[in-house]
Amino acid sequence: MDHMQERAIETFQRVFGAAPAFEVSAAGRINLIGEHIDYCGGKVMPASLNLCCKVYGRANGTSLINVYADDLDETARLDLSALDTYRSLNWGRYQAGVAYELQKSGCRLVGCDLLYSCSVPFGSGLSSSAAIEVATAVALSEIAGNDYDLKETALLSQRAENEYCGVNCGIMDQFASAMGKKDRAILLDCKTLEYTYIPFELGNYELVVANCNKPHALVESKYNERRGEVEEALVRLRAVYPDAACLADLTPAMFERAKHVLSGKLLDRAEHVIYECARVKEAAAALRRGDILALARLINASHDSLSRLYEVTGKEPDALAYAARAQDGCIGSRMIGAGFGGCTISLVEKGKVAAFKKAVGERYRNAVGYDATFYDTSIEDGVTVRKL
Ligand code: GLA
Repeated sequence: MDHMQERAIETFQRVFGAAPAFEVSAAGRINLIGEHIDYCGGKVMPASLNLCCKVYGRANGTSLINVYADDLDETARLDLSALDTYRSLNWGRYQAGVAYELQKSGCRLVGCDLLYSCSVPFGSGLSSSAAIEVATAVALSEIAGNDYDLKETALLSQRAENEYCGVNCGIMDQFASAMGKKDRAILLDCKTLEYTYIPFELGNYELVVANCNKPHALVESKYNERRGEVEEALVRLRAVYPDAACLADLTPAMFERAKHVLSGKLLDRAEHVIYECARVKEAAAALRRGDILALARLINASHDSLSRLYEVTGKEPDALAYAARAQDGCIGSRMIGAGFGGCTISLVEKGKVAAFKKAVGERYRNAVGYDATFYDTSIEDGVTVRKL
């Protein structure tokens, strides 16, 4: 038993007066490429991280789900007969949303005590909310003795986030959290939910995840604005391609023939989506054949497109990505997730990572006035369940 687990079990005993019966964990994620593509029906390439949300739990014989956050020292009590009423909770609404969706889909729920210990930093763009949702869905199913399917768990978790919590996200985060595999990237088609795993082998390079630590602001409203823009772009492009079900249905060649129906921001947004989809295809091929230099070029092009055309980067993610790219040994860097802050991924030559962190950290602080955070990451299984 590791130190963190020991501490969590002690806390569980102090807070709930008994020992937990199991530990469930669900991962945060990175995304190699395919940004702002999931809700356009294209392919994305996420991978699940060692940074994860751990839930310790046991049935408590009541009709309450008690959810305790170890870092907030706060408990939310969710009544099984009133799960619809917790939408405005700050702590506990993701769990309530998942419980509500499980109940709505006919799953039996039982009262329980749950302790959350999350190493995915909140607001980092590494999907702490998806990790909480997926971990909760698995924990509640385990406690009630229900069978569950991880793909369905991802969809249910996304529903909880969309409908209960009012965040209009796509499927990428929950899918990566639930379906991720150790040392694999997932190539996920967000239109069909077909997926394959690609070995996450970077040869002579390492993946470095860095948080620009920009205070969270307006991410949701800007995210929704982008969704609105690409929906509008699709409506206009249908004048030329009436059968297009989503933007990702158009190849670059088709887009070039039709783009005269768009202008201004709508043209920029659609151009990002169309060419990012093409980059994902090339990136999957590059990763499969171990061509990390080609992968890095695509990662850089993805960031530049997110910055220039999709306009979801901003000063801090740009500063971090460009500081990374200027550093010896770094062959590619880009922002990941929704943007407007959050994390970057960089591909850095092995043996040059410590110097990279130091130099990029300094350059970033000089540019924005505060520090970035670098994480030690590895690609791990999305969900694990351990009986205690
Ligand atoms: C957030 C959303 C995802 C996805 C990314 C952008 O992480 O939750 O569904 O849209 O932004 O790629």
